[in-house]
Amino acid sequence: MRAKKRIETIADLIENVDLAVDIGADHGYLAKMLVEKKKAKKVIATDISAKSLQKTIELCKRFNLANIEARVGDGIEPIKTEKVDVCIIAGMGGYEIIKILGTAKNATVKEWIFQPAQNTIELRQYLKNNNFKILKDFIVKDQNKFYNTLVVEKSQNRQELSELEIRYGLTNFDLCSADFIEYLMDKLERINKTLENNKSEKLENEKDEVLTVLAKMKEKTK
Ligand SMILES: C[S@@+](CC[C@H](N)C(=O)[O-])C[C@H]1O[C@@H](n2cnc3c(N)ncnc32)[C@H](O)[C@@H]1O
Repeated sequence: MRAKKRIETIADLIENVDLAVDIGADHGYLAKMLVEKKKAKKVIATDISAKSLQKTIELCKRFNLANIEARVGDGIEPIKTEKVDVCIIAGMGGYEIIKILGTAKNATVKEWIFQPAQNTIELRQYLKNNNFKILKDFIVKDQNKFYNTLVVEKSQNRQELSELEIRYGLTNFDLCSADFIEYLMDKLERINKTLENNKSEKLENEKDEVLTVLAKMKEKTK
């Protein structure tokens, strides 16, 4: 299975729910893992592309997975009358996730899990501005790439999040994981390389910020 750790990270956040929905399921690996690990009694796997969803359908046939239902459709459209315990959107950009959330105002979803492919900072800002509460937000490294995973629920109030939490992810500061430290070191190396040929105040500021976060992490692990 491609990207097993990243998908396992999502599955590990789910405990024995009645209905999980995977929007943009594509290959269907997450849906398969959720039913095989008995994380969900039923999974609805959706995708805007019938061709992509066909991969999930084939996987279900191959492994005889009866508890997965495949539905073609855009965003929450295929599940808007369902009572969803957890709805996952992984592997899409932050702006696509924001677009889907914008149409999900009347959806009955207890908890969301996002694993954006990019624009995570913009997604966090949107969540804050639109009264979503971030419960968990942390980074994992899988096959040399870093993935942010966010667990989110709708709230009555605007969450207090600092600028650093928006830029780096709330739970990373508590977890202080090896993957997060590696992410920071990797970011620092990239910035340093760019600065060798291209002096930029913005990058210098970003470098200072990464060094500040690294210092905080080192302080914690002392
Ligand atoms: C890169 S794949 C990610 C697959 C899987 N979720 C993962 O994390 O590995 C993105 C999938 O999302 C689907 N997709 C894109 N926009 C969508 C939307 N608005 N609604 C449902 N599916 C969408 C694409 O067709 C594609 O199959």
